[in-house]
Amino acid sequence: MNASSHLKGATALVTGANGFIGSHLVDQLLASGCTVHGLVRESSDLKWLDASRVHLHRVDLARPDFVIPPLEELDYIFHCAGLTKAKSRSGYFQVNATACSNLYEQCQKRGGRIKSIIHLSSLAATGPSPQGNLVDETTPCKPVTFYGQSKLAGEEIALQYSGSLPVTVIRPPVVYGPREENFFTFIKLIQKGWGLQIGRAGKELSLIYVADLVQAMLQACHPSKQEGRSYFVTDGHVHAWEQVAKECARIMNVRMKILKVPEGMLIPVALFFEVLACFSSKPALFDRQRMIDIRQSSWSASPAKFFKAFDFEPQYELNRGLTETINWYQQEKWL
Ligand SMILES: NC(=O)c1ccc[n+]([C@@H]2O[C@H](COP(=O)([O-])OP(=O)(O)OC[C@H]3O[C@@H](n4cnc5c(N)ncnc54)[C@H](OP(=O)(O)O)[C@@H]3O)[C@@H](O)[C@H]2O)c1
Repeated sequence: MNASSHLKGATALVTGANGFIGSHLVDQLLASGCTVHGLVRESSDLKWLDASRVHLHRVDLARPDFVIPPLEELDYIFHCAGLTKAKSRSGYFQVNATACSNLYEQCQKRGGRIKSIIHLSSLAATGPSPQGNLVDETTPCKPVTFYGQSKLAGEEIALQYSGSLPVTVIRPPVVYGPREENFFTFIKLIQKGWGLQIGRAGKELSLIYVADLVQAMLQACHPSKQEGRSYFVTDGHVHAWEQVAKECARIMNVRMKILKVPEGMLIPVALFFEVLACFSSKPALFDRQRMIDIRQSSWSASPAKFFKAFDFEPQYELNRGLTETINWYQQEKWL
């Protein structure tokens, strides 16, 4: 399938257009010949967006009365906006779930031209995987964090509209690549010679390089493929954290020592950052919700259903994706 042919000359809206995934998607939509509308906030940092090529709309999805401006003109919607860190459960739900009702209600009323809506959810909506077993689309959802619960609520709302709107839900695992700031912290520590091992060794995860995720989203929005379903998309492998750390160290040519942190130490650290966050408008850098994520032995999913349905093949195995990512961090002087 030519992933881009249906996009040439089309009009697309990307919510969260300035974010990590949204900004890469915008670049690719522009390269595919799309007219791109980007939904951002008044306060959004636009450094990854070419504002001269994107029609920007300032909308805060946390406001109950928000209005999406250009719906009548749109062929495609990519709902990438989401809150990955918040101070409270209600903070997560407001943006990741409640906002979806208003968004899709407006699409239903005014989006007569829409051929496809890609709703970006997360593996967190399903929850962790028992070690040795991958979760797939038949696995009952048991999210373990407020973030995961809110993402599940968001995708349930999206799928409620799938009778009248062409919605496809994509659930990525950890996404890495240029411009990303969380996985970067892990790489930065390795550059300083330290590989972090929290709790026992051998914890596993699925990953996907951002260019592959963007490509997957573009293939998933093909008008002939709209079925109101949810899919996991990963690089097709399960990785051990130690293996990922060693690969990063090899690429950067650094000698790495393993810093073993007992899980019990996470609670005081999380509480410390939560107390600090009480004096700030921003959520804590690390909190007890993040701690729940880290404690799980495996966050791994099978992308088999997506690969088959969309004839998709990731182009970035771990070494290639990490090399591109680290090269970019070095060029930008982040490393
Ligand atoms: N990165 C990953 O590893 C990963 C994995 C699985 C799923 N996801 C999902 O992918 C999506 C994008 O994630 P990301 O990594 O690109 O995160 P990101 O860089 O933090 O981008 C999030 C985007 O959402 C926007 N946003 C947040 N609250 C908003 C609000 N109230 N109104 C309007 N826009 C709002 C942000 O705008 P501001 O810049 O103004 O904050 C930003 O543009 C999210 O839905 C996330 O749940 C990400």
